[in-house]
Amino acid sequence: MITLVGNWKMYKTREEAELFIKALPPFPHVGKVRVLLAAPFTALSTISSLGREKKLWIGAQNIHDAEEGAFTGEISARMVQEAGASFVLLGHSERRHLFGETNSFIARKLKRAIASGLVPILCIGETALERERGETEAVLHKQLTECLLEDHPDLMIAYEPVWAIGTGKTATPEIAESAHAFCREALTGLFGEARAEKIPLLYGGSVKPDNIKALIDQPHIDGALVGGASLDPATFTDIIRNTGVL
Ligand code: PGA
Repeated sequence: MITLVGNWKMYKTREEAELFIKALPPFPHVGKVRVLLAAPFTALSTISSLGREKKLWIGAQNIHDAEEGAFTGEISARMVQEAGASFVLLGHSERRHLFGETNSFIARKLKRAIASGLVPILCIGETALERERGETEAVLHKQLTECLLEDHPDLMIAYEPVWAIGTGKTATPEIAESAHAFCREALTGLFGEARAEKIPLLYGGSVKPDNIKALIDQPHIDGALVGGASLDPATFTDIIRNTGVL
């Protein structure tokens, strides 16, 4: 099963989100590829029923770790769920680097997502400097062990090298595969081999229609988290088609 997640970031009003979903062809391929869209909070309720008709999973890009409380401007797991989200991205590099999210905060969010019945997609990845210094594996290991204090049957991990996000510099399939193999090993250490084998490991960072196939052909790459190329329905559909599994 290939998993493709579109991450719209802070793009698309409700109207634009609706037009996008309407423009997607139906995907009657359940069992081979599943398509998820991480939408802005305001678009969730508008697109959740439309998304169901097209067999898409609709999710959020963030939640707060508290159940509720005096956290001006924040949003809770129950709120996004009520609006139609079934999954949530956690620890995206833009949250870590632009908004100062730490592994321990992300671990608490992950716990909250699980307690609320939201499927967590944990994002991890090294910066260019960390890679240059040979720290990639240490960084990934730390992020995985410090964020994953709990498991969920549908948990997914997205490996997104920070230097590849929105830069057009995709990791080569070999670089991505080596990081994914390392993550699989680290997950084996955390949850045992049988469980680690089943956790979908997605690659993210400048995924496009012309590089998706080479990436998912790698043994430890089970899908992709797509930012910029998920904004246009035709391009996103090409990515889905180019997996070759439809
Ligand atoms: P990108 O973003 O595909 O535009 O590089 C990926 C992401 O941030 O999830």
